[in-house]
Amino acid sequence: MTTDNLIRTRPLMAGFGVEILDVDLSTADEDARQNVIRLFHENGAIVLRGQTMAPDDLMAFIKLFGEPEDHTQTKFTLPGYPKIFLLSNKEVDGKPIGAHNDGVGWHTDYSYKEEPVMCTMLYAIEVPPEGSDTLLADLCVAYNVLPDARKAELDGLMLHHSYQHLMSSREFGRMELSDEMKAANPDVIHPLIRTHPANGRKALWVSTGTVKGVIGMEDAQAQALLDELVEFVTEERFVYRHKWQAGDILVWDNRCTLHTGTLFDDTKYVRLMHRLWAKGDKPF
Ligand SMILES: [Fe+2]
Repeated sequence: MTTDNLIRTRPLMAGFGVEILDVDLSTADEDARQNVIRLFHENGAIVLRGQTMAPDDLMAFIKLFGEPEDHTQTKFTLPGYPKIFLLSNKEVDGKPIGAHNDGVGWHTDYSYKEEPVMCTMLYAIEVPPEGSDTLLADLCVAYNVLPDARKAELDGLMLHHSYQHLMSSREFGRMELSDEMKAANPDVIHPLIRTHPANGRKALWVSTGTVKGVIGMEDAQAQALLDELVEFVTEERFVYRHKWQAGDILVWDNRCTLHTGTLFDDTKYVRLMHRLWAKGDKPF
């Protein structure tokens, strides 16, 4: 454990992420809040446990990271709060109130857009006692340990990201998009090796789900490369596993991480989380 500007922290894993101790966001002053934001930018991910956050508190908090981003699927946003998305298996009057198993499979959020979201914030209200973990992979360390020759081979490769591909091929919540949704989410091209705009670090910014192919590479060869790289960056040595407790807030930087949820027994347990996004910029 270390003390940083009177805030005690402990690493989530060596060289990546911190848990911030003793900060109650509902009463924290401006200095403490700004230190939380700084710790996020320095570490790629932060955890704060035991928080009590009303929707307005969450909105105020996400605005410290950046301008809140809209959600692609609008039907599961919190009534009156279009920037707060519900992740849940709960039903009210026989209708689901949130997206269930939405983030299962390694990915980085909103990568099917020209300007993917900078960060993702999850706030846990109800969590299963087992399962439903969130795993974060540190893509900068994964890139750094590659041999120089391999870095040179990968540098300059561009990936084809597609929302339509994601929604037609994913394991859970597969759906045919309306013409309106297709028009609102055209395919985009992003670099495989992404440079962090704030600190210049490079990330091996591979993903599954939205990635349809590698530009200029034949499909089978591209798929083999993508599979190999995803398997590599998600090796245990690069991954933090978050085990949720009610009241947890987890925020991660999508510019240098990959994440996935894990399944839980939805016949026994309820999960309810709020998800918020802050806008990002065009990857380079
Ligand atoms: Fe996600």
